[in-house]
Amino acid sequence: MLILAPMQGLTELMFRKVYHQCFPGALDTSVSPFLSLTHGNLADAWKKIDDVVPEANRDSLPVIPQILGKEPVEFVDLANRLYDIGYGEINWNIGCPMRRVTAKHRGSGILPYPDEVRSILDYIIPRLRPSLSVKMRLGLNSPDEIFSLVPILNDYPLLSVTIHPRTGRQQYSGQVDLNTFERVQPLLRHKVIYNGDICTLSDYRRIHQRFPKIEDFMIGRGILFDPLLPLRIKHNHPDDLHATLHFVLALNDAISQLPIREESRMRKTKEYWCLIRRSLPITEQQSMAVLLAQTPAETQQRLHAILDSI
Ligand SMILES: Cc1cc2nc3c(=O)[nH]c(=O)nc-3n(C[C@H](O)[C@H](O)[C@H](O)COP(=O)(O)O)c2cc1C
Repeated sequence: MLILAPMQGLTELMFRKVYHQCFPGALDTSVSPFLSLTHGNLADAWKKIDDVVPEANRDSLPVIPQILGKEPVEFVDLANRLYDIGYGEINWNIGCPMRRVTAKHRGSGILPYPDEVRSILDYIIPRLRPSLSVKMRLGLNSPDEIFSLVPILNDYPLLSVTIHPRTGRQQYSGQVDLNTFERVQPLLRHKVIYNGDICTLSDYRRIHQRFPKIEDFMIGRGILFDPLLPLRIKHNHPDDLHATLHFVLALNDAISQLPIREESRMRKTKEYWCLIRRSLPITEQQSMAVLLAQTPAETQQRLHAILDSI
């Protein structure tokens, strides 16, 4: 199974919907960018509920809502509300590396504190109506932190544990630590999902070969660098500039309908283009022409000009 990774600001509903419509079946499911229980503030988390409202997600990729937070009472409340609107699985984010998050023992900031993880699971598991899965890193400061967490995670019924084999301190730098991942994977009694640095078909093949028991892979940035990547993995799909540009056009169309200021729409358009253009066999001049467009109409026109030239 191929799962779209949650990426705040990038893989919200608008993206998931357009992706699913352009490449049906390429991805099997997705995890939503986190709903944050900042200071246990349920109202704040609920403000972002639009992203996972089932009616709006009907013609989109299936999605598993993700919660970031360590307040057990509010966690149960939010998760059970999500269950009431139709979600049978909730994902707990204990991997976020942002300093303002980790400083409060949230995200990967909780990983050095196994007792806190146990006491949260002790409280929430008997009270949760949906099932729980976890997305985590190897640790906050050291990759060995995960070894103290494994026996705790094994004590509870979890649907899966997704591991991005870096520490929180590493953020996104350096290499993924496949040696530690290799040691930890057989110790977990839960289904393990691999996540991290799968950006090309050969990355996928290398990791798949090394971990033949892993059946599920979560991919984030690789899909933004190359939207065809899941199809390459599943069907050895060849390059298809036409399909990728049509996806970009559809994405820009959806961005132009977002209820935000035009300036923000242009910023978003450019943000996606900066990621996606990396994989495209186009000239620097063509790429820059799209980047320097001043209006949504100009962007679309310049993309059409590339399409017409192939
Ligand atoms: C801009 C950005 C936003 C992210 N937001 C989230 C998030 O909301 N929840 C989460 O669990 N991980 C988040 N992540 C981490 C990704 O889900 C993923 O674990 C990480 O990018 C490694 O996978 P990749 O190498 O396939 O991108 C984010 C990553 C990026 C780059």
